[in-house]
Amino acid sequence: MNGNFTYCNPTKLYFGVDALENLCLELPKYGKNVMLSYGGGSVKRNGIYEKVVALLKANGKNIIEDGGVMPNPTIERVMEGVGRARMGKADLILAVGGGSVCDYAKAVSVSVNCEEDIWEKYFIRFEDVDCAIVPVGCVLTMVGTGSEMNGGSVITNHREKLKIGHVFGENVFPKFAVLNPEFTFTLPRYQMIAGIYDIMSHILEQYFSGTDDNTSDYIAEGLLRSLIHSADIAAEDPLDYEARSNLMWTATWALNTLIAKGKTTDWMVHMLGQAVGAFTDATHGMTLSAVTMPYYRYILPYGTKKFARYAVNVWGVNEAGKSETAVAYEGLERMEAWMKKLGLVMDLTSLGATKDMLDGMVKSTLIMDGGYKVMNEKDIRAVLSASF
Ligand code: NZQ
Ligand code: ZN
Repeated sequence: MNGNFTYCNPTKLYFGVDALENLCLELPKYGKNVMLSYGGGSVKRNGIYEKVVALLKANGKNIIEDGGVMPNPTIERVMEGVGRARMGKADLILAVGGGSVCDYAKAVSVSVNCEEDIWEKYFIRFEDVDCAIVPVGCVLTMVGTGSEMNGGSVITNHREKLKIGHVFGENVFPKFAVLNPEFTFTLPRYQMIAGIYDIMSHILEQYFSGTDDNTSDYIAEGLLRSLIHSADIAAEDPLDYEARSNLMWTATWALNTLIAKGKTTDWMVHMLGQAVGAFTDATHGMTLSAVTMPYYRYILPYGTKKFARYAVNVWGVNEAGKSETAVAYEGLERMEAWMKKLGLVMDLTSLGATKDMLDGMVKSTLIMDGGYKVMNEKDIRAVLSASF
C-alpha cells in the first residue's frame, strides 16, 4: 500500500430489527424542527412512515412534511426542499428512503444557507461547502448506494442533460443512519437486484485500479464474495433476513470511503451510467449493469493482471494451464453469466435509450483518470455503442 491518507467516518450506524428505536437517542441532540423527507410513497404503504412519525412526535418534534422526492432527484426538487427547510427553519433533515432521498437530503443540507447557484457551485465547479449545513439523519429503506454513510450526493439536471455527483466532506455525511434489513423486504425485485449490482459496481470501481499490493483490494474481494453469496440467496428468497442483512452491511462498506484508502479508483462505469441516467432517467444500478461488460472488456488489456486476479479470487476460475489473458476473460464470462441469471439489464435499449442519444451521452460522460485506461471521447463512444 503506497498512498498517504487520513481515515475518518463520522456516521453513527444503528443496525438490526430494533434499530429505529435509536431515533430516541439521536433526536434529542437536535432542535425542534425536523424536515421529514421521503420518496414517492413506499414508506406510507409499508408502514415505515407511520413508525417514524410516531417517534418524532414522542420526541416533541415539529414535522416539516417533505414527501415526493423522486428517484434520481432533480436540482429543481432540491431547490424546492431548500425553500421548505428555510421556511420551516429545519434543525435536522431526516431522510427516510433510498439513496435518492439521502442524496437529496445532503444536497438540501449544504444549500439552505448558501446564497450562490448551488448547481453551478457544487455540481459543476465541485466547490467545497463554505456555509453552515443543516444536519442529516437517515432511515434507509433501499440498499445499494452507500449514501447512508458517505458524503455523496448525485443530482440530475434534465435541462442540461447532466447527472453529476459531488462527494462532500465529513461534515456532510449523515450524522446517524438507521439500518433495519426488514425495511428492505418490500422492495420490488427490480430495485433489489439493481441495488445488488450497484454494490458490486462500487466495489469494482475501487478495485480495478492500481498495481500495488493493497489491503483495500483484499477487503474488496471479501466483500464481493459475500455479496455474490447473499445475492444468490436473496434472489431465491427475498425474505431471507440473513441474506438481506448481509447485503445491507456490504452495501455500506462498499462505499463508505474505506476501500478507496491508499489507492487510486476508476469510477468510469458510474460516469457512463450517469450519462445514460441523464438521458433516460433509468434505475441507477441498471444503467451500470448495461455498460459494464462492454467497458470491462474494453479496458481488460490494460489491466489484465488484476482482471485475472479477480477471476481467480472472486469467481473461482481455475488458472492451471491457461494464459493470464484467458483467465481474465473467463472471470468476466462468469460475471456476465451471473448478472444475466440475476436478471440485470444488460443493454441500453432495454432502458429506453436510442441511438440518437449517443452523441449527447458521449458529451455528458465525465472522464476520470484513475483506472487502467484513461478514456477519450472515441473510447467512450465505442463502449456506449457496444452497450446498445
Ligand atoms: O420513492 P418511493 O416510493 O419510496 O420508491 C422507491 C423508488 O421508487 C423504491 N423504494 C425504496 N425503498 C423501498 C422502495 N419500495 C418499496 N419498499 C421499500 N423499502 O425504490 C425506488 C428506488 O429508490 P432510490 O432511492 O431511487 O434507489 P437507490 O437507493 O438506488 O438510489 C439511487 C440514487 O442514488 C444515486 C444514484 O445515482 C441515484 O440517483 N447514487 C448515490 C451514491 C452516493 N450517495 O454515494 C452513489 C451511487 O453510485 C449512486 O450514484
Ligand atoms: Zn452506484
